[in-house]
Amino acid sequence: MNSAIQHNDIRDVIEADRAHVWHHLTQHKALETVDPRIFVEGRGMQLWDATGREYLDAVSGGVWTVNVGFGRESIANAVRDQLVKLNYFANSAGSIPGALFAQKLIEKMPGMSRVYYSNSGSEANEKVFKMVRQIAHRHHGGRKYKILYRERDYHGTTLGTLAAAGQPERREQYGPMPSGFVEVPHCLEYRSQYGDIADYGERAAQAIEEVILREGPETVGALCLEPITAGGGVIVPPEGYWETVKDICRRYDILLHIDEVVCGVGRTGKWFGYQHYAIEPDFVTMAKGVASGYAAISCTVTNEKVFNLFKDDPSDSLSYFRDISTFGGCVAGPVAALENMRIIEEEGLLENTSRMGERMLANLRELQDRHAVIGDVRGVGLFCGVELVTDRQSKTPAGEKQVQEVVAACMADGVIIGATNRSLPGLNNTLCFSPALIVSAAEIDAITAAVDRALTKVFG
Ligand SMILES: Cc1ncc(COP(=O)(O)O)c(C=O)c1O
Repeated sequence: MNSAIQHNDIRDVIEADRAHVWHHLTQHKALETVDPRIFVEGRGMQLWDATGREYLDAVSGGVWTVNVGFGRESIANAVRDQLVKLNYFANSAGSIPGALFAQKLIEKMPGMSRVYYSNSGSEANEKVFKMVRQIAHRHHGGRKYKILYRERDYHGTTLGTLAAAGQPERREQYGPMPSGFVEVPHCLEYRSQYGDIADYGERAAQAIEEVILREGPETVGALCLEPITAGGGVIVPPEGYWETVKDICRRYDILLHIDEVVCGVGRTGKWFGYQHYAIEPDFVTMAKGVASGYAAISCTVTNEKVFNLFKDDPSDSLSYFRDISTFGGCVAGPVAALENMRIIEEEGLLENTSRMGERMLANLRELQDRHAVIGDVRGVGLFCGVELVTDRQSKTPAGEKQVQEVVAACMADGVIIGATNRSLPGLNNTLCFSPALIVSAAEIDAITAAVDRALTKVFG
């Protein structure tokens, strides 16, 4: 028995947390007088905290992660069985789950062929950045080293990925940043930079070409994009965007890196967000939903063209990808990921995601008819955003404080929702919804009913 887990007196736990745990994304002053929230159990879509309060989780563990829901015994059992057989060996050698999950994953990703394991979304993206740099050194005389990223996108918390953050507030006070990362404009039509034009998608993609031409195409190695932007405001690229992006990458010999850390493994109703569009990526990274948070695993997936660039000269002792992630050898990750994927397939969760996503969008649009503060509703599958504005005409963003009050009102009502936060100065005004892919129609209705009440409470 683990005494920490079996602890009877929750006050001791709360005080231990208050005294010693440094929480993520948290200003701790408030926790000197208010108890930290401690979750103790989860089943399906429901969570319970240390006081016994029940919550409906509309954000899959806070950050769009627990795709198959809480309390999945079959994943726990598969991980347990594997751990007692073999828990770890460095990934310079293979493992049975590592090989089998890679095979199953690649079956879902036509055109891709290789899987590199690590532990977090940030790390998976760092691998791509390192690969792009090494390709530049080995095949382009060091010139094609620049990595383009898009305004409002996010790729992680390490210094390398922060340098590729299109969210300036994430970077603030952590500089200086690594060099060689260049921003391209966002593609949120609701906040069009080019006025009210018919072909916004193409125009937004051409803006990428303008940056490439300004920087010099011979200096640009890769373009890193979220298929649908998550924390930057749930931005669904407009029609015509991806076709043009694809052409631009081809024209200038630029590798395309799709960050599927949020969209990957079912969130949008397809296995991957990019599969809604006719894209042929060179790199795809994924993390959160790969094992739904039952184990820490991320994958950097490449096509064979990229892979071959790292084995063409065995006589050069530095020519291969000289990278290791110690815990990329933990076998719990791929074994949990295999079972996670089986559940999604056998329970028809991609179909459920599309159906329930439609329902959620319809409910949110109905709220938009009644709440003037809702400026825009957008999303694909169980990945939806609601942008709040104080004036629809001028699209003046609602203040972050009021947006957070809506989140707090839902929480007080027993429903956990999210919102963009401390990312974009003056534009942290989008409510975020990403329930687990198992969500029912009644639960979708309960989530949007709580939002209805919260908007009334905060904005009248
Ligand atoms: C699109 C995207 N990429 C990368 C990351 C970083 O993932 P991690 O927190 O696992 O490092 C995140 C995290 O929210 C994300 O939303």
